[in-house]
Amino acid sequence: MTSFQTLDDLGQLTGKRALVRVDLNVPVQEGKVTDDTRLRATLPTVIELSDRGAIVLLLAHFGRPTGKPRPEMSLSLVVPAYREILGRPVRFIEDCVGEVALQTIAAMHPGEVAILENTRFHEGEEENDPALVAAMAALGDFYVNDAFSAAHRAHASTEGLAHRLPAYAGRAMEAELTALAAALGNPKRPLAAVVGGAKISTKLDVLRNLVSKVDHLIVGGAMANTFLAARGVDVAKSLAEHDLKQSALEILDAAGRAQCVVHLPCDVVVAKEFVADPPSVRTVDIKDVAPDEMILDVGPASVAMFVEALKLCRTVIWNGPLGAFEKHPFDAATVALADAISSLTQDGLLVSVAGGGDTVAALNQAGVAGNFTFLSTAGGAFLEWMEGRTLPGVRALERPEKPQ
Ligand code: 3PG
Repeated sequence: MTSFQTLDDLGQLTGKRALVRVDLNVPVQEGKVTDDTRLRATLPTVIELSDRGAIVLLLAHFGRPTGKPRPEMSLSLVVPAYREILGRPVRFIEDCVGEVALQTIAAMHPGEVAILENTRFHEGEEENDPALVAAMAALGDFYVNDAFSAAHRAHASTEGLAHRLPAYAGRAMEAELTALAAALGNPKRPLAAVVGGAKISTKLDVLRNLVSKVDHLIVGGAMANTFLAARGVDVAKSLAEHDLKQSALEILDAAGRAQCVVHLPCDVVVAKEFVADPPSVRTVDIKDVAPDEMILDVGPASVAMFVEALKLCRTVIWNGPLGAFEKHPFDAATVALADAISSLTQDGLLVSVAGGGDTVAALNQAGVAGNFTFLSTAGGAFLEWMEGRTLPGVRALERPEKPQ
């Protein structure tokens, strides 16, 4: 058994320097942050540490500058939005290591907050270089990791620092780990996974891991087309990875051996072109896709079947939309399933955990994101977690359970 130290394990903090790894990797267009979800996710930890008198030093990456300073990837771009959301002054420190940073921090007062420049401006960040880790560690008295969405990277600021300084999980990290452990670690059963999205190739390991863990696997998105094609259905012009049909069959076999029921669509929404509201849109049985059509969404009979399966379940994990949800009407199945999961969750019948950029966007579009038990802001990290991997940033925080 393992456990984590959290902010509850910290003693007196007045004047102590907290090096807090957060994920400030937010979309910015024309100098404006267009989605501040990740900034908001840091607030519980930052406010708590600041209120407890710590000097709060935020370490984060922004984009992929490949080890060199790049002005368009400076975290100074995020500071104004962060100040507004936090509602308190926020300093910007032009490097995440070195003399200037040390001097600026030495002049900071208890409770003050600063954002340090992009950790990825240093080559040693992605290499997890001990020299960079030591230089960062010199700035703080203790380390808090609150960036689950960057925890799949074994970088200096996400992994190395946890071995150099007393290390704690921040509040967002704690919430994420608790929710994910409840969903896959020791879930209420039956347990279902909904996996959608465009490509089976990016989620082969996820699917392989899930069939041995879940009782029901619901497959949607273009990924379902590959499974249908593997079973001999003519998917015509649909997006499908025909070279992976064998892998799809192996996953179905493995599911059968593990007594995991795989639910594939029985009807689909097709059109001759992928545009919003095309005149050619039809709902058909999977056997009736015409040679000049492509599958763009799962049909209503399939959604009804998926919902019936979910009514038997107590926990669901969801990653990937069921259709090409960015264009109407191909968002219908995703929205309908999201609504059904939201109601089952609100009625106390289902624990629902969803994650990944597209999935969260789809749930927001359906207006039900707030009704899920837990929504992960992580993209790549959520998928690696679904693959059953222990994320390096999480492993570095683990401590053997204290004897009772
Ligand atoms: C993300 O945006 O998923 C995280 O911030 C990790 O970013 P990365 O894929 O560039 O490591």
